[in-house]
Amino acid sequence: MEVPQHITIIMDGNGRWAKKQGLRRIFGHRAGRESVRACTEYCTEIGVRYLSLFAFSEENWDRPADEVNGLMDLMARSMLEERETLRRNNVRFRVVGDRGRLSENLLRGIESLEAETAVNTGLTMIIMLSYSGKWDIMQAARRYAEASVAAGKVLPLDEASFASYLATAGIPDPDLMIRTSGEQRISNFMLWQCAYTEFYFTPVLWPDFRKNELRQAIEVFNGRERRYGKVE
Ligand code: IPE
Ligand code: IPE
Ligand code: MG
Repeated sequence: MEVPQHITIIMDGNGRWAKKQGLRRIFGHRAGRESVRACTEYCTEIGVRYLSLFAFSEENWDRPADEVNGLMDLMARSMLEERETLRRNNVRFRVVGDRGRLSENLLRGIESLEAETAVNTGLTMIIMLSYSGKWDIMQAARRYAEASVAAGKVLPLDEASFASYLATAGIPDPDLMIRTSGEQRISNFMLWQCAYTEFYFTPVLWPDFRKNELRQAIEVFNGRERRYGKVE
């Protein structure tokens, strides 16, 4: 089996999962944490290098305040509680997104976990938080323009140098993108980075997506032929 180097997941369907059980939406988000754990473990087991998880989009800030606050609390709490597991599994933890919109408390938690796990050499787990594809491209363009002004000239630009301004700089583009819950759209996720990513859509809701579902997605990925516009 060919193991994708970078798997990215749009973790969708928590709200619907909760509704089905007659629970409030936040319980779906809480249940989704177990799926994060299972997928991280499985990726470690089979030797995936990067697992990025879309946890909260720029657009998600427009949800009701109690859901946004509940999600941010859950994030902060999970980071404290998963510390030991990440350390034990040699996982390097990173957060990618618009940090300017996060609370001081959450930021402190993120920075300390990133620093603590920076030496780990196993799976790199990336939480995409307050992230959107258009935001990323815009901030990269802005930073490139600022670097040009600082240099006093239009700096040379090609795809590789532009990618170095993206929030995902240094992370290889995803090989496989999984979206749960039956939605078949990209919802402003990694627009630049998914140029040649293989997409896998499943009706399974995120809190029900575990090891077996991930294995199945990788099996389907293995049957794909990646041509990159060429003739085989
Ligand atoms: C995904 O689940 C998690 C986030 C977007 C934060 P949803 O909350 O979108 O769940 P559904 O799509 O409403 O079921
Ligand atoms: C995408 O899910 C964002 C995350 C999974 C974090 P949404 O539920 O926000 O996307 P739409 O609204 O269905 O496109
Ligand atoms: Mg959704």
